[in-house]
Amino acid sequence: MRQNMLFNKSRYSRIVILTGAGVSAGSGLRTYRGPNGVWEEYEVAKFGHAEALANRPEETWRLFGGRRELILAAKPNAAHLALAEWEAALAPHQEFLLVTQNVDGLHQCAGSKNVVEIHGNVMFTRCSNASCDLELYRDEQSHLNKVPICPKCGSVLRPNVVLFGEEIPVLPSWTVKRALRDCDLFIAVGTSGLVTPAANYVRGAEYAGARTILVNLEPMAQPNPAFKEQYLGPADEVLPELLAKL
Ligand code: APR
Ligand code: ZN
Repeated sequence: MRQNMLFNKSRYSRIVILTGAGVSAGSGLRTYRGPNGVWEEYEVAKFGHAEALANRPEETWRLFGGRRELILAAKPNAAHLALAEWEAALAPHQEFLLVTQNVDGLHQCAGSKNVVEIHGNVMFTRCSNASCDLELYRDEQSHLNKVPICPKCGSVLRPNVVLFGEEIPVLPSWTVKRALRDCDLFIAVGTSGLVTPAANYVRGAEYAGARTILVNLEPMAQPNPAFKEQYLGPADEVLPELLAKL
């Protein structure tokens, strides 16, 4: 049984946390890169690119629809829970933004409140036609056998994720930039730091004068000098201990 961590009030007042697939590894969800990574099984160009969706939407659904089942079976781990509890322990004047590249929704499941999903959320479906007014909706179906079609306009429906070749939508992008501009603590957790723009956020935080920390299983393959501190190990062990000291 996991012990509840008691968090004291942090001394930081403008906090930005960036999470990646490594945070959900402790919940049994595969990371994208590294041993047994998603991109080893599913070639990015074939399954993860906007062009693939335009030409072969069944491939897009094969990858992302398949992830829905896994996510439904997964539970938040100690890293997700520690972030949620830490946020809840902050005083009203302390600003906190949890920026996640993950599309699994596990941070919200754990109780995190101020979350920005820069790569979307795979548990939602929307129309691929940008001018269609079909509302985004939660969808637990995998659609592995048949590509779903929009009831309003007849276009292909798609999982609500940002694919390679697509931009992060304006609102999340702007929210993150604004938070980075004057943040005093930046922690990246479980991310390879290979995908922009998230990989550049630490530079923005450093420029703002923030304390910059990386928590990851292993050192970054291409180390980023903007991180001034690094704590290595599984996020579900390292992060709760670190947060308790901040
Ligand atoms: N605890 C902490 N870190 C871990 C753990 C763990 N238990 N397990 C793995 N890691 C680390 C790996 O060492 C790796 O550096 O997590 C990182 C995961 O890297 P990626 O798989 O590249 O995930 P991420 O950085 O989130 O990828 C960014 O790339 O393909 C796109 O859209 C996808 O959002 C994703 C983006
Ligand atoms: Zn439509």
